[in-house]
Amino acid sequence: MEKGETKVIWLDELGAQYAEEGWGRTQANKSIDGNPLSVAGRKFERGLGTHADGCYRINLDGKAKTFTALVGIDDEIEGNEWASVEFSIVAYDENNTPKSRVLWKSGVMKAGQNAIKADVNIEGLKEIRLIVSDGGNGINYDHADWAEAKIDYLGNKPEPVKPYTREPYILTPKPGPVPKINGAGIFGVRPGSSFLFTIPATGDRPMTFSVQGLPEGLTLDGKTGRIIGVVNNEGAYNVKLIAENEKGRAKRDFRIVVGDTICLTPPMGWNSWNCWACGVTDENIRASARAMVEKGLINHGWTYINIDDCWMIKPDSDDPVISGEPRNKNGMPLTNKKFPDMKDLTDYIHGLGLKAGIYTSPGPYTCQGFIGSYEYEAQDAKQFANWGFDYLKYDWCYYSRIAKDKSLDELKRPYMRMRDELLKQPRDIIYSLCQYGMGEVWKWGEEVGGNCWRTTGDIVDTWSSMSKIGFSQNKCSKYAKPGCWNDPDMLVVGNVGWGPELHPSNLTPDEQYTHISLWCLLSAPLLIGCPIEQIDDFTLNLLTNDEVLEVNQDPLGKQAEQIIKNEDYQVWAKKMENGSLTVGLFNMDSYKHKAIAIEWSKLGLKGKQRIRDLWRQKDLGIFQERFESNVSPHGVTLVRVIPE
Ligand code: GLA
Repeated sequence: MEKGETKVIWLDELGAQYAEEGWGRTQANKSIDGNPLSVAGRKFERGLGTHADGCYRINLDGKAKTFTALVGIDDEIEGNEWASVEFSIVAYDENNTPKSRVLWKSGVMKAGQNAIKADVNIEGLKEIRLIVSDGGNGINYDHADWAEAKIDYLGNKPEPVKPYTREPYILTPKPGPVPKINGAGIFGVRPGSSFLFTIPATGDRPMTFSVQGLPEGLTLDGKTGRIIGVVNNEGAYNVKLIAENEKGRAKRDFRIVVGDTICLTPPMGWNSWNCWACGVTDENIRASARAMVEKGLINHGWTYINIDDCWMIKPDSDDPVISGEPRNKNGMPLTNKKFPDMKDLTDYIHGLGLKAGIYTSPGPYTCQGFIGSYEYEAQDAKQFANWGFDYLKYDWCYYSRIAKDKSLDELKRPYMRMRDELLKQPRDIIYSLCQYGMGEVWKWGEEVGGNCWRTTGDIVDTWSSMSKIGFSQNKCSKYAKPGCWNDPDMLVVGNVGWGPELHPSNLTPDEQYTHISLWCLLSAPLLIGCPIEQIDDFTLNLLTNDEVLEVNQDPLGKQAEQIIKNEDYQVWAKKMENGSLTVGLFNMDSYKHKAIAIEWSKLGLKGKQRIRDLWRQKDLGIFQERFESNVSPHGVTLVRVIPE
């Protein structure tokens, strides 16, 4: 080829794997769902099929000439006409001020709109970024195509900038053989309600348990560490938990608070949705429950095994497995054939020392069109209690067809209705509101009896989704307290996928450390979303670091506050009961390590502080005035700052 001749490189040749996207996996020459690229009926042979929020970065040497493409929403989203995206092409140069400059914008594009041509002069540039944003209405169904995208260039071949990722790496030492008691230091129960608490302890088995100062009505099984019974008298009981084995003995203070407030620390457990979704079966539930014990998660305080949507009857279904009469003659809810015996299932879960959760909607149907509780709230609450459930997720969904409008009264009404029914039951049932944050639910979730409330739409396993949700929780920080938790949705670590096909989480290892650190700082309910029986060593390490979980379970119940927020990094700090702080230093950059510093003055501290790295469970030394750490791209350094 002659010197000076213009060459062409197609975007799909650079590699789809280097794209960042808000959902799914970007594909070369196919839509994000794997169909031929197609915009408003026009098919394209080449290009990238991606999803908002998307970013593709390309390094140039100043000698590239033009970037051209035809952009639009892929036709595969048919029927979801609200989808909208905006494409933009941005020049980026770290050494310039400002660093970025918009070269071209499509304007907000709608589903079905003809592809728009981008033809942009990129001479002299070092980097361009191809951005897909959500068009202002969230990322749902934002399937976006960069069709026929190519660069004409003279000098070196343009290269994709590769987001940083590395192999999974384990930071936390394994628990030792000597007994150690973990988990929350406090537990709330209503007077007269049945009590179940399993003392979470690591260390070699066999282990024997004892408790000093157990209130009247409770008994301990010394072999399993399970405390059961009923306490009738209100009060706070300070007890001592003891665990012993051949190697040693552990003793820990524990408070049992008998009163109106339950859920004194954020619930920790598992939920079927982010893995099995509507494919869930009784056996999936049992397998995760069993693995919760066998893999030792129960020894770190993990407790709830929650069934999400799709256990009930779907009245208009042709599938004999899920169709049928939704209720018996007394109006009590019936299960579909995948759940042959609910009582047997909760007995199984309780028999393992765990607790059971269930799901329904205040509407006539759930999100997946199964029968909901509307006008059968009393029967449903009673049946859930009879079956032995300890947790209810109550998901708005089809209630939007019942609510007159989105006024606060209408938003609150169905949640108060079910609260009244739950309170009539002889069991403590944690009440989890799911209505995606409407009407700033964090301001009134407590008033309608909620123990936790979703503050956002559904999470998926991408950086864009997880970080957008997690880092936007400062707005509700001050409303979190014992019994009342903001819920930024469930965890997306391990094998996830909304069933039946699962895939390893698309979050990088560093992003997963960020996810767990942030959810612990936020005092968020921790609900594992992958099949526990499939958990690998990396994921197990993420979920069983007691010093990290302790941040989540701290009895003071404060949620972290955002101390620093800029384009490059964020710092969050959470007040702990013992007067220390937990601080997370988060690197927002996908590509570069970053030295992130926090000054004591920003944390309201003075003088010498001991710093402990929580993921490594290691003291880093005594620091004066400030602490600085080199943090991986999209990663975190999580430390306890302890006054000396
Ligand atoms: C909604 C909720 C999810 C899940 C599904 C079930 O989308 O937000 O968490 O429960 O419904 O259909």
